[in-house]
Amino acid sequence: MEKISIGLLGLGTVGSGVVKVIRNHQDKLVHGVGCPVGIKKILVQDSAKSREVVVDQELVTLDPNEIVDDPAIDIIVEVMGGIEETRKLLLRALEKKKHVVTANKDLMALHGPELLETASKNGCDLFYEASVAGGIPILRSVADGFASDRIHKIIGIVNGTTNYILTKMSDEGKSYEEALNEAQKLGFAESDPEADVEGIDAARKMAILSTLGFSMNVGLHDVRFKGITNISQQDIEYGKRLGYTMKLIGVAERDGEKIDVTVQPALVTDSHPLAAVKNENNAVYVYGEAVGETMFYGPGAGSLPTATAVVSDLVGVMRNMRLGVNGHSAAFPQFTKKMMEADEVFKKYFIRLVVEDEVGTLAEVTTLFSKEGISVEKIWQNPTRGSISEIVLVTHKASRKSFQDILVELNDSSVVKHVGSYYRIEI
Ligand code: NAP
Ligand code: HSE
Repeated sequence: MEKISIGLLGLGTVGSGVVKVIRNHQDKLVHGVGCPVGIKKILVQDSAKSREVVVDQELVTLDPNEIVDDPAIDIIVEVMGGIEETRKLLLRALEKKKHVVTANKDLMALHGPELLETASKNGCDLFYEASVAGGIPILRSVADGFASDRIHKIIGIVNGTTNYILTKMSDEGKSYEEALNEAQKLGFAESDPEADVEGIDAARKMAILSTLGFSMNVGLHDVRFKGITNISQQDIEYGKRLGYTMKLIGVAERDGEKIDVTVQPALVTDSHPLAAVKNENNAVYVYGEAVGETMFYGPGAGSLPTATAVVSDLVGVMRNMRLGVNGHSAAFPQFTKKMMEADEVFKKYFIRLVVEDEVGTLAEVTTLFSKEGISVEKIWQNPTRGSISEIVLVTHKASRKSFQDILVELNDSSVVKHVGSYYRIEI
């Protein structure tokens, strides 16, 4: 091969990083791949915008067809985001025998199987390492590093923006809005940050991780998710008093042939390494039956960290080109997906109740827990104002079903004014 030509879709946070990494590591790329690598065209929306990197204006286009229809372009790097328009563009590129590298988890969580099948039919590679946990090479590790093992649990922090917000709220007492604003300025947040703070971005990543880890087709609709928008400073403080740190945690677990996949704000024991994962960093624990516990840690968002994952995928495609083995890397799911029922998932819970501070309240509350068969590990009462008080409880492990039932009973009880908040205690 004389030279490999790339068509870059997007020149924002990640796209600029990709240009920098390709420029700065050209020698290493040439050595690893055996020929020079160059960007032939770059798609943007606004050609007049000022950019993080200076590029030759001749390379810039507003027309995606100039890239997808160019027979001289070998590989498409998609870092523009979006779903439907992008899906059609990439399907067309694959039909035209172009390999694809993407950082787009929205697309892969929804249309991964269709894109991977199209790639395989056309003898093309479709790699998406950067779509989960930014600069951490987690997908390749799960798919290849654990190929000889049976994964039974993947748990971790997979969204940089929410981890940044929670760190700033918890360690520096910043407001939610202030911390989100900073995360947006630093380029961690999605163009619509609702995807981050509502837990959707993390849910998409957990769907991708579980599909690879459990070899089942796990879609976004299989993930139960909740974001961080309702977390108050008070809950963070109560967590601290009990020895816990608040994190947005993704959990994918398997019991026998069944799986459960969730994303939610959860309390993590202060002494656990996940509690020490700060700012935009991510960390993922993978548990294999043979290997036991493994941990992967690093920057989960940002320009250069994400770009390194994109360019590593590019190197993978180019090596395959040299060997003539493109289109054989995708691992298609081996098992039929079976989800766990609510009475099959057992967790510890934190719950804060706003109650009438009167004779018999505590007895009534503990009786409800005992009737539901939920054992209480810790309980404390915090007087607030007048006749109103707060009761904070930590339970022993209870099934999701029992916990859902107790929430209904507590809300119906005459002594409970309302359930203030509740969180799983994950680790
Ligand atoms: P971004 O900063 O908003 O950049 C998007 C780029 O794509 C911009 O250059 C934009 O052009 C271009 N673009 C968007 N829609 C387009 C369209 N319809 N036609 C032509 N050009 C279009 O986004 P980003 O943060 O780099 O993220 C890109 C992708 O990487 C997303 O899928 C995101 O989920 C994923 N990702 C991001 C991170 C991160 O830390 N930011 C990490 C992992 C994965 P203009 O500049 O002209 O507007
Ligand atoms: N918005 C994402 C995050 C970018 O904050 O984790 C990395 O996927």
